[in-house]
Amino acid sequence: MRKNIVAGNWKMNTTVPEGVELAKAVNDAVAQAQDLKCDVVIGVPFTHLTAVKQVIDINKVGLAAENCADHNSGAYTGEVSAPMVASTGANYVILGHSERRGYYNESYEMLKTKVDLALEAGLKVIFCCGESLEEREAGKVEDVIKAEISESLFHLTPEQWTNIVIAYEPIWAIGTGKTATNDQAEEVHAFIRGLVAEKFGKQIADDTTILYGGSCKPSNAPELFAKPDIDGGLIGGASLKAADFMGIVTAF
Ligand code: 13P
Repeated sequence: MRKNIVAGNWKMNTTVPEGVELAKAVNDAVAQAQDLKCDVVIGVPFTHLTAVKQVIDINKVGLAAENCADHNSGAYTGEVSAPMVASTGANYVILGHSERRGYYNESYEMLKTKVDLALEAGLKVIFCCGESLEEREAGKVEDVIKAEISESLFHLTPEQWTNIVIAYEPIWAIGTGKTATNDQAEEVHAFIRGLVAEKFGKQIADDTTILYGGSCKPSNAPELFAKPDIDGGLIGGASLKAADFMGIVTAF
């Protein structure tokens, strides 16, 4: 069965005490909400994982790291590995965000390794893909998405695939206030589901959760989530205020 998910990606925001307060507020709101139609996940900085884990009910609010290393341990100063993330009690990791690909040169090959290590550590992966404005204008959306997904994920077994969530995040819509129209997003989501169907079959494609990310907010979430292939959102800016985030969580 396909799951709806609304996941926050706090990026490099909040101190630990601020993050703990925000996590508590989200956790309380989720605990009080009736009949939620989606799973809720918060993606927080590495420094926050252990403290946030202590103030949430992990059965109600999933916890994600925003990255992990491409090695499990060793002399990699400043890196944080998938087993370290899992040892905090987090159950998800966000990989392949365009900010990681763009600012930190994360390649298809590196992401493939990160995905493998994350799954091996027992984490679910929220795997991001998305085109730049130039790529969209050059008519390359499908090529870009296909390469990002197939190069880093299509070596997985069908069983491993059940722990993958895809997030389509057009780079031009991230933090810009420019949301993809419902139809633009749906078109790419349907394309992604088609790719998954070609590789793993229709049943697995139907069961795959595909999130939209990019200036998603309480006002536009209901229309986006009403599309047949949009199964929730990966939320940046609007995940930093519990009320806004909950406005999206309750948009289904
Ligand atoms: P915004 O919601 O701030 O546009 O960010 C989207 C995003 O990058 C989530 O990963």
